[in-house]
Amino acid sequence: MGSVHTSTSVITIERFIMEQERLHPEATGELSNLLYDLCLAAKIISRHVRRAGLTDILGAAGAVNVSGDLQQKLDLFARDTVRHAVQHTGRVCIVASEEDEEPMLCPQTSRRGKYVILYDPLDGSSNIDVNVSIGTIFSIHRRVSSPKGEPGLGDCLQVGKKQVAAGYILYGSSTMLVYTTGQGVHGFTLDPTIGEFLLSHPDIRTPAVGKYYSVNESNWNRWTPAVQRVVAAFKNGDGRMQAKNARYIGSLVADFHRNLISGGVFLYPGDTRSAEGKLRLLYEAAPLALVVEQAGGLATDGRRPILDLVPQHLHQKTPFIVGSKTDVEFAVEILAADGVPA
Ligand code: AHG
Ligand code: MN
Ligand code: MN
Repeated sequence: MGSVHTSTSVITIERFIMEQERLHPEATGELSNLLYDLCLAAKIISRHVRRAGLTDILGAAGAVNVSGDLQQKLDLFARDTVRHAVQHTGRVCIVASEEDEEPMLCPQTSRRGKYVILYDPLDGSSNIDVNVSIGTIFSIHRRVSSPKGEPGLGDCLQVGKKQVAAGYILYGSSTMLVYTTGQGVHGFTLDPTIGEFLLSHPDIRTPAVGKYYSVNESNWNRWTPAVQRVVAAFKNGDGRMQAKNARYIGSLVADFHRNLISGGVFLYPGDTRSAEGKLRLLYEAAPLALVVEQAGGLATDGRRPILDLVPQHLHQKTPFIVGSKTDVEFAVEILAADGVPA
């Protein structure tokens, strides 16, 4: 009888994180455990997303968040699920999310740990009720305040390049978790039959020139002439730039992930309605900037690298151009010639 093929090449995220930790003798294992905690939250949120049409979790929750976005039930479920997964572990001291005006201190009952989590619990909320891919984005910093005092806003308002880890979960045709701790970008696909994230995309590298450009072109008349020139070049091609295909899902995580894998550039520029655009620096742009740079891409506000921006406010917005290196550099060059921000 032929040998029964039992696939032993299955690498769970737990095994992968453990092997990554072994590369750093000084590692205490706390970050590894924190990443497991986020895996658990991802599985719980994924289960609810997959059943959203069957349980009472669709629809608006009847309130708006600090950014004025109508809060969906799944926004709040995901916000609570991540916080519950991390706040009693002693690994985290404070969390801040898109859905809460102020940061939330972890309870004193459990020792407050050395990590800070900033997250967008549910990205692409407008797509929840129409069964289009949505996601969760997370950013992990080290606490900077004295352990003798209380953690606070200063622990959250840190420059992106100091992130310890960052990543996202994409609830798409499959549920994927993609993260970096500064050692490359790695993607895991959830096998719901065994409840494990399995390594499916080791060491993701994003192509230097992208196939796609992603932008909400209904904002065209509110952009600066320079931004219009950038988008026109992506759309029609110009001397140096081949014309690209337009793809825009309206969920940042889904647009970002497709471009990361296939190559592409995503833009959410400022416009006459909002000079800083719509996307938030701390829990959308900065974590995705860390991921894309670790995969060989770039992320900018049109003039400066996202990872160099020092946040002033928790829900601060920023113009955001992210993706394939050559494409982002092209955009920056055109915008610089114009001398005004994106
Ligand atoms: P969120 O649901 O977390 O508020 O994020 C929505 C964001 C982002 O996911 C997406 O890229 C963008 O909103 C789409 O905005 P427009 O509908 O203005 O294009
Ligand atoms: Mn979002
Ligand atoms: Mn959100």
